[in-house]
Amino acid sequence: MRTVIGITVLLAALSVVGYTALNFYDRHFKFGRMWETPAVRPYEQPIAPLETGLVPTGGGETRLRSMDPARLVSPVALDDPQNVRLGRTVYFTYCVHCHGRHHDGNGTVGQSFTPLPGDLQSRRVQGLAPGILFNEISYGIPGGRQPPLATTMAAAERWQVIAYIKSLGTRP
Ligand code: HEC
Repeated sequence: MRTVIGITVLLAALSVVGYTALNFYDRHFKFGRMWETPAVRPYEQPIAPLETGLVPTGGGETRLRSMDPARLVSPVALDDPQNVRLGRTVYFTYCVHCHGRHHDGNGTVGQSFTPLPGDLQSRRVQGLAPGILFNEISYGIPGGRQPPLATTMAAAERWQVIAYIKSLGTRP
């Protein structure tokens, strides 16, 4: 009998403590309990109408990609020393691992590729039109291993790195 009374008293005490704690929480803490916070269910509020022209459907990368690479013209001056300098930073950020410190294709990561990255200072690469280089860097080389970097690098950075590559000239 004693045990029963003891347990009953204990349970009652726990209930009082719990209830007080909850009330204390509600009064003194800024976080509501989950079932009290506002919840918006799907479609409960009308979807804001989209203004026309808000979603881009032309221009940008799509336009660059669809253009004839030979006719792509750089929006940045390729012989501007400032762009060459920026392009050097871009090269040593995005390209050096594969193409190497001396642009000869001897980067550590590049060695695991077939075909190997070629010499960026070869007569052939130096002879490529800037638009062709832009296309290869941006979208990769069909059947080759150059990674498509269009989603990694801003278009301006791609043109800057081309300014840098062009500034190197053919290897003596
Ligand atoms: C993950 C390694 C990797 C990275 C990073 C990389 N490349 Fe390459 N690149 C290659 C490989 C491998 C090839 C040879 C691909 C082929 O011929 O199919 C190549 C080919 C090229 C070519 C064509 C060369 C030729 O012989 O026609 C150019 C230009 C080039 N890369 C420029 C760049 C530039 C600029 C960057 C940095 C913005 C860059 N690559 C980043 C691996 C890489």
